[in-house]
Amino acid sequence: MLDSIKIKLHEHGQEHLLNFYEELSENEKKHLINQIESIDFDLIKNLMGLIGKKKDAYEFSSMSSYLSVDEDYKLGLNSILKGEYALVTMAGGQGTRLGFDGPKGTYILKNGINKSLFEIQCDKLKNLYKMSNVYIPWYIMTSLVNNDETVDFFEKNNYFDYPKDKIQFFTQDELPMIDLRGKIVMDSKSNIKMGANGSGGVFSGLTKSGILNEMKKNKIKWVFIGGIDNILLPVDNPDLIGFAIKNNYLVTSKIVPKVNPDEKVGVFGYRNNRPSVIEYIEMDDEKNNLRDESGQLLYRDIHTISNVFNISVLENIADKELEYVPAFKKTEYINEEGNLIIPDSENAYKFETFIFEAFSYVNEVGLIQGKREEIFAPIKNAKGVDSPETASKLYKDFYKNKN
Ligand code: UTP
Repeated sequence: MLDSIKIKLHEHGQEHLLNFYEELSENEKKHLINQIESIDFDLIKNLMGLIGKKKDAYEFSSMSSYLSVDEDYKLGLNSILKGEYALVTMAGGQGTRLGFDGPKGTYILKNGINKSLFEIQCDKLKNLYKMSNVYIPWYIMTSLVNNDETVDFFEKNNYFDYPKDKIQFFTQDELPMIDLRGKIVMDSKSNIKMGANGSGGVFSGLTKSGILNEMKKNKIKWVFIGGIDNILLPVDNPDLIGFAIKNNYLVTSKIVPKVNPDEKVGVFGYRNNRPSVIEYIEMDDEKNNLRDESGQLLYRDIHTISNVFNISVLENIADKELEYVPAFKKTEYINEEGNLIIPDSENAYKFETFIFEAFSYVNEVGLIQGKREEIFAPIKNAKGVDSPETASKLYKDFYKNKN
């Protein structure tokens, strides 16, 4: 078997993966071989072709957003009362910008809050219970790297007193990281450095884990998919569901307006006439500053990753191939002598798909306008903009005003 693996590695110019094989223990050998066997080398070759490639030229156009009304809330709550609602939290990211060594959801906010991001999200579900008397199912996406630590954290915290049988974990797929020479990165003599396949991995993750089937069996109709790092994620507001029901949308999303034209965020818009999110790097000065007749920015509605999907959309895209995008990241690696190197700057590519690609499979995404101070307090960076400090302030102000 080792011989056939060697031939395959040779064919793909990745022989270095076995450079230290003879030094490894039996368990380490097994682990490394399993990793190598899980790699789709043809896919890797295709992905390497994406590095440095100019993106297709898309035609962009703007999208409209609306205010929700009481009826949306009522219709949505009625659906929740019927047991049709579930939450999927994406918590498989690497949190590199935050620089926290552990799953982002286990990060404990200080500044007088003293709760982890997981607990803060669970509080929202408990609030929903108070409103509806329904404990909605909570599905948490992890990556292979952070799954065990995440589950342990829930165990240790007694699932934050949410019914344990309502919480399930599932993992997303991962791909090897590639260095600038096109070589697969190893971060020890026995381990290939893998990276989670991006927020778009949630769709295949839900299918492969059997959760999508379980949802269908349990008559779930509406699935909120959100990130772990927005501590004001509006999962306990039913209006996105009601807005979808009333207008026959299959996907709805809650947006907040940009604070200034240059804010580095993805905004909703059409890409070649299909609903999408236009990333910051795809915008230029001119587009950032375009205004409509009322003087408002034309591309202003931020994708806050607060999306409600009809279950049929999740079924429909389960077998679709989403487009991979290379992301340049800083990662530890071993050099030719087998020594661990910690680089000062980005040194390798990770390949990701994005959740917003799913939007192109529906005709319209219904956008509801939210207020930043009520629904959007992201934690991305260790300091400065969108940091624990700024998010904590928003969080505390929000709950102070509520009480
Ligand atoms: P981001 O891309 O903003 O955050 O993901 P990240 O990966 O945690 O952090 P950086 O970019 O390395 O600093 C937004 C949301 O999507 C989840 C994240 O956990 C976060 O909740 N996500 C992202 C996944 O679950 N898996 C991924 O592969 C990527």
